Amino acid sequence: MHTLKARGWKRVAVTAPAAGCGTTFTAVNLALSLARVPGSRTILMDMNFRRPGVAQALRMQAPWDLADFLSGTVRMEDRLLRPLPALAVGLNGTVDQDAAELLHGCSCAEALDGMMLRSGADTALFDLPPVLEHDDTAAFLPQVDAVLLISDGTSTTAAQLAACEKMLAGQTQLLGVVLNRAGRTDHPLN
Ligand SMILES: Nc1ncnc2c1ncn2[C@@H]1O[C@H](COP(=O)(O)OP(=O)(O)O)[C@@H](O)[C@H]1O
Ligand SMILES: [Mg+2]
Repeated sequence: MHTLKARGWKRVAVTAPAAGCGTTFTAVNLALSLARVPGSRTILMDMNFRRPGVAQALRMQAPWDLADFLSGTVRMEDRLLRPLPALAVGLNGTVDQDAAELLHGCSCAEALDGMMLRSGADTALFDLPPVLEHDDTAAFLPQVDAVLLISDGTSTTAAQLAACEKMLAGQTQLLGVVLNRAGRTDHPLN
């Protein structure tokens, strides 16, 4: 949060080299933590159209598709839910294997600009698919200020992290690398 405030960053993509590293787990827990900061406003958006997971992680229902909000056909108020006073969530219940085009489009940029303005959010976290498996995250990078990369202490390799950093270089800022499942690591990153 200090880095975000110091640099004026509000929009953070959360992603990982591969599926299962804990992107959704971390994004949800981070959003819940940020929402405890008095006077703050946090938004968590499920932008993983390959394997949406935020609704399940929060034990909420997502009987709709976030694509209609991102394409500008549905208003923010009709898609964002508020499980806590300081937390709004954009849940997604529909798998879309061609979401890169939507995530890269002008209507998505406009919808998110409007959302940031009208919600007055301090921080927006975007749960995204794995960097090394799909183009969606690369397509979405113009919409964020920084990326938080989640590594899995039990499976992520140094080569995977290097490949992610190479892909992100020049496109966005790397806010940090989170070591998830650190306690269960039998063998360090190699
Ligand atoms: N640190 C952790 N402690 C306990 N369970 C975790 C942890 N990280 C991830 N999980 C669990 O592992 C599974 C995969 O994590 P998930 O966040 O869905 O991965 P991703 O979104 O990167 O595909 C989920 O069931 C999640 O609850
Ligand atoms: Mg996920």
